[in-house]
Formats: sequence, C-alpha cells, structure tokens
Amino acid sequence: MMSMSQKNPFSSISKPVLELKGAKTFEYSDMASQLARAGKDVISFGIGQPDFPTPKHIVDEAVNALRSGFTRYVSPPGIPELRQEIARHVSAFTDAVDVKPTETLVTAGAKIAMFFAIATFISPGDEVIIPDPSFYSYAHATCYAGGKPVFLPLLEENGFSMTPEVFQEAITSKTRMVIINSPHNPTGGMLSKSDFKGIMELAKEKGILVASDEIYDHYTYVDGFMSVLDDPDWRDYVIHINSLSKTYAMTGWRLGYLVAREEAIKRFSMFTANTVSCTTSFVQKAGVAALSGPQDFFKKVLTDYQKRRDFMYSELTKIPGISVRKPVGAFFIFPNIKAILEGVKMSTEAFAIRLLKETGIVVLPGPAFPNEAGAGYLRFSYALPIEKIKRGLERFKIDVNAWTEQTA
Ligand SMILES: Cc1ncc(COP(=O)(O)O)c(C=O)c1O
Repeated sequence: MMSMSQKNPFSSISKPVLELKGAKTFEYSDMASQLARAGKDVISFGIGQPDFPTPKHIVDEAVNALRSGFTRYVSPPGIPELRQEIARHVSAFTDAVDVKPTETLVTAGAKIAMFFAIATFISPGDEVIIPDPSFYSYAHATCYAGGKPVFLPLLEENGFSMTPEVFQEAITSKTRMVIINSPHNPTGGMLSKSDFKGIMELAKEKGILVASDEIYDHYTYVDGFMSVLDDPDWRDYVIHINSLSKTYAMTGWRLGYLVAREEAIKRFSMFTANTVSCTTSFVQKAGVAALSGPQDFFKKVLTDYQKRRDFMYSELTKIPGISVRKPVGAFFIFPNIKAILEGVKMSTEAFAIRLLKETGIVVLPGPAFPNEAGAGYLRFSYALPIEKIKRGLERFKIDVNAWTEQTA
C-alpha cells in the first residue's frame, strides 16, 4: 500500500501522452455495442467501414499463408512482394510513372502511417495546417509531436472545400506541413483539380510538406480525383498515405502503406522496427492478393454505394430542419441540423447521445472531427443496406419530431 506522502508513479504521465486524445468514433461504437448487447435494436450510421465482406480470394491467401507457415517476423518496411505490388498499384492508379518499391512502406493501416509522417517531421512549435472538420487523428498526432494544429475552416457555403487562397492565408514562417484528405471524411467532399493543383504548387513554392490521406481514392462518384503522386514535380515534398481498409473491406486486418522519397521511408521504418517489428506477415500476403487480384468486384460496390448515397441524400433533404450537400466521394454525408438543434435546445453531442440511447441510431456529432467547427452537423455513414438506411431515417424523423414538440 502506498502511504499518503508517496507519489503515485502512474500519475506522472509524459507530456506528449498527456496531449493524446481519444477517438469518438470508437467511443460511439462501443456505446452502441453495449446497447445492442442489452437488447436494443441499434442501427449504426456511425463508424466508417464498408459492410461487404473481405473478398474471398484475399481471405484465401491469408489462410494459405498461415497454413504454409508464413507466420514469422518479416522485414520492418514490408515483404518485397507487397512493396513491389504497392509501387505497381500506385503507379497504375495515379499518374505516377516511377514509384519504386524502396519508396514504399507497409504499415498497420493509414492512421499509423499518418502518425509516422507527423512524428518524423514535426518538432515542437512547428505548425501543421489541417482542414477543419477532418479526421481527428491528424490534430491529435500533431499535438502529440508538440506541433501546433492550424485549422482551416471548410465552409458549407463553399462546398466544404479547401482553397489555395485560404491555405495561403494560414501559412507562416513556422508552417512545416499541410494535411489534405480528398475525398474527405467527414464531409464527403473532394478537392477540385484546380484547388488541388493550386495547393500543391503553393506548398512546393514555400517548401511545405504535403501529407495526403488518400484512403477514399476508390470511392468517387464524379470525375476529377487527384493524387499527390500525379505530378512527378511534386514528389520531393509529398507523403502519400493509403490503406486497404476501405477499398477491400479490410478495416480489421490493419494494412496500409506510405509512399515517399526513400530517405523518408527509411526514417518511418525505424518506428516499425522499434515498435511492432513488422506488419503482420500473413496479412501482407493477403495484401499482395488484394492489390494484384481481380478489381472488378469494386465496380458493383461503387454502384451500390452510389445508390445508397442518392437515397440517403434524397431522404435527408425531406426532413424539416435539415440542409445537406450531396457528397461526391467516400461514404459519408454531413447534414446541417442547426435548425433541429435550436428546436430541441441541445448541443450536437448531446443530441447524438440522446439519439443513440433513446432511438438506437448511431451517428457521429460534427465536433468529433475534432473541433467545434463541426457543431451543428452530424456525420452519417451510408455503408449499410438501403433497407436499414430507410428504417433508421424513419425512426430519426419520428423521434426528433417528438422531441421538438415536447420542447416547444
Ligand atoms: C480519412 C481517414 N484516414 C484514415 C483512416 C484510418 O484508416 P486505417 O484503417 O487504414 O488506419 C480513416 C478511417 O476511418 C479515415 O476516415
């Protein structure tokens, strides 16, 4: 037993870890699972993951690898076949012509890939320009590294777009990195080609690193997607971050990758060597099958997702108090519910929690991404069958209507 005068050694948390915040996406899905276990009929528009199973040929390859004993440590940056396949895949998918396997690094997902990029290049005091709203871990990792997130508001009236003009205004002598994510979580927006090019040219001129999270690159419903790998002139200051999580429905497998110049890849690889040693060996074999195997299944996935998007959009526009922009990428829709919140006199977060507990509907409150700029918005994932979307929105309408009447 510790005496009163003794200090609890567990209370002296390091400064970087004190900066680290949790993930609301997982908090909400844990709350939802708890309610479902207690018998509540939960419909989740919450965590962002595809609802189709990992394609069979990918699963088979992992099983084969396990059965054949491919279960040992492998090289920290990744197995050569997968690095080769990533280099081939990104060169074919983007306009890049020259990505080499040594310019790739296999990681346990995109999230840790972004963490490596930030932890490697951001020192205390450095500024990182981050769209707002955005995937929460960008800001959290920046604070962990001692950097300062400089948030660029994405405004609904501008289509939640990030323009070169607002980027330019945010640049100071301390700006070290800008993070882009197009298609974008949580708004479902995508940078126009001219904005994309303008941001890239400005970053190049100012010597600012561009860390680009392209995890939704396959989920686009209009033309015009651009990658930071598209122009060879950009290559010296870009870090391309991607993952198999969403495209191949492999969120739980934990498999992603980085593409950057070789010197940077060697640095990132040290994190792997000193922490997990390598990304799970047999999962990497499955990754080779995913990238090199048939890609035609994705056409049907995209057609389905587009139908769900259209349905979700048209149903949401019919709900009084909601205004919404039609997403062009990813599988999220980000309606403005400010009028509803006024009617029920609640904050966005309190509303999302009430919806979960009373209605059994999981949505994420805008401020989970990760600031008050998201207040007044909800993020719905439409990666669920249309029949469930219909049932969920029906319940949403009935309950929210009742709450508004009670409050009035
Ligand atoms: C924009 C964005 N980046 C990264 C991730 C995390 O991806 P991964 O599963 O590859 O770590 C997500 C997951 O939702 C995301 O939406």
